[in-house]
Amino acid sequence: MKITIIAAVADNGVIGNHGQLPWRLSADLKRFKALTMGHAMIMGRKTFDSVGKALPGRKNVVVTHNRDFAADDVITAGSLESALMLVQGDDIVFIAGGAEIYSQALHRADEMLLTRVHAEPEGDVTFPEFDDVNEWQLVDSEHFEADDRNQYPYSFLTYRRVGADLHPVAESG
Ligand SMILES: NC(=O)c1ccc[n+]([C@@H]2O[C@H](COP(=O)([O-])OP(=O)(O)OC[C@H]3O[C@@H](n4cnc5c(N)ncnc54)[C@H](OP(=O)(O)O)[C@@H]3O)[C@@H](O)[C@H]2O)c1
Repeated sequence: MKITIIAAVADNGVIGNHGQLPWRLSADLKRFKALTMGHAMIMGRKTFDSVGKALPGRKNVVVTHNRDFAADDVITAGSLESALMLVQGDDIVFIAGGAEIYSQALHRADEMLLTRVHAEPEGDVTFPEFDDVNEWQLVDSEHFEADDRNQYPYSFLTYRRVGADLHPVAESG
């Protein structure tokens, strides 16, 4: 199973502010939807709260310490490990944030699909530092300018773990 981190990260590392995304970028939301549709996504309970509901057409796995946590169309896991076990039959799983979950997933992910937002917004959560020399290799980059639906210029970046098979074969079972 390929583990793919998907995140929008500002130039200053910010990914959120008061539980919300600190920008308006329609292209990022569309890309997120297109990439994750039909697949499993793992997110932290705070990210789930900020979204407010399960995202349709996807397996929504929410990580929480709260054994009583329940929400419609959501699978609950008590740790990232348990969440990964719950989706292990899938070809790919997306790690959808937030910062706590990205930090825990960073060292085991195979790929990162980042939207680099070219701005320095205020925020209270940041993406974890990562080593883009020894651990991660940038394999694809597309740049876009701001427009009326996208508040800031942005780049879609694909990173692969250094040494990882560029076309990993999905494990079954
Ligand atoms: N820019 C982006 O791409 C992006 C993507 C996603 C989220 N965000 C932003 O990120 C912010 C939220 O991130 P965050 O770091 O504050 O929270 P988070 O990672 O979404 O959720 C943290 C919660 O997850 C649970 N959790 C984390 N690790 C766990 C573990 N090992 N075992 C069991 N439960 C665990 C805990 O829930 P309990 O407290 O219930 O135990 C913890 O409070 C928001 O501002 C959101 O908008 C941005």
